[in-house]
Amino acid sequence: RDNGLARTPPMGWNSWNKFAGRVDDAAVRAMADAMASNGMRDAGYVYVNIDDTWEGERDAQGNITTNRKFPDMKALADYVHAKGLKLGIYSSPGPNTCAGYEGSYGHEAQDARTYAAWGIDYLKYDWCGARNIYTDAEMPAVYQKMGDALLATGRPIVYSLCQYGREDVWTWGADVGGNLWRTTGDIRDTWDSMTRIGFAQDSLARFAKPGHWNDPDMLEIGNGGMSADEYRTHMSLWSILAAPLLAGNDLRAMTPEIRDILLNREVIAIDQDAGGKQGARAWQDGDREIWTRELADGSRAVALFNRGDAPASITARWASLGVRARQARDLWAHQDVSPGSEHTATVPAHGVVLLRVTR
Ligand code: DGJ
Repeated sequence: RDNGLARTPPMGWNSWNKFAGRVDDAAVRAMADAMASNGMRDAGYVYVNIDDTWEGERDAQGNITTNRKFPDMKALADYVHAKGLKLGIYSSPGPNTCAGYEGSYGHEAQDARTYAAWGIDYLKYDWCGARNIYTDAEMPAVYQKMGDALLATGRPIVYSLCQYGREDVWTWGADVGGNLWRTTGDIRDTWDSMTRIGFAQDSLARFAKPGHWNDPDMLEIGNGGMSADEYRTHMSLWSILAAPLLAGNDLRAMTPEIRDILLNREVIAIDQDAGGKQGARAWQDGDREIWTRELADGSRAVALFNRGDAPASITARWASLGVRARQARDLWAHQDVSPGSEHTATVPAHGVVLLRVTR
């Protein structure tokens, strides 16, 4: 089962991390406006995803409706599409969503048809409202039901599985039609949460491939709980991991520094590499780690991470990393560095030096 979508990890924005229950039609339009005008759309951020709390009651025919925050979903989709962007939506396989709104239980095919009729391009399908009526072992079948329903609509709809990495979803997520699957619980806007998730993804690399991605959750970049160095670590690590890049901040109020992190095209190119091979840890000594990712043109992304509280010197020895280096470029400094047989950098506390090494 392959819907042909998400050949590279999905990029866009999602409402939850910043807006949670406060998301509404006006906020979504404002984010779409920002993405179309601030360079994000042109850098690849195209999905504008509404998370939980848009749902209304079902009508007499059982059709899902929107609540008063979203007066007209079809009109909103038209607006987003006219900006050259795509619209995403959210539901649960249970009778209720995590936030207590109406879920898709018993209405899966009907809801998929409604989404298609509205012009929806992406569905995030979130487990927690289903846990009272299904066992975890039933997850693959439950997710397949909606995957099949989305395919049957004939509309291209990216399918995002959100069940927090339970039941080794990476082993069956692609088979049930998933384009991405969460590998962990919810991220928070802290160094501790982000690194606890990001640096634990090492063993999952082999399950990612074009069309089917591990999802270590959305970005917190710009939400204020981390320093710029920490957000650069977040962006670098997610790119090494071939993770979806779903911004979660208020795009109307970005500082230039945050904008430069989300819009670093050389780093985005690592995330979006056509080879679709997720990177992994290559070396570790205490708080210092080197992660590498093979890229389609034979070059490598090499990330020198310093998880410690003080600046640290880290040396990447090409031969021991299995890398041939004729050229190397520092993707945050935007400058070439002399490759030699190794590269030593002083990496700031909680920071990163991200290199693209070409043979
Ligand atoms: C749990 C998910 O993991 C979050 O990303 C978010 O979608 C909330 N549910 C919404 O209720």
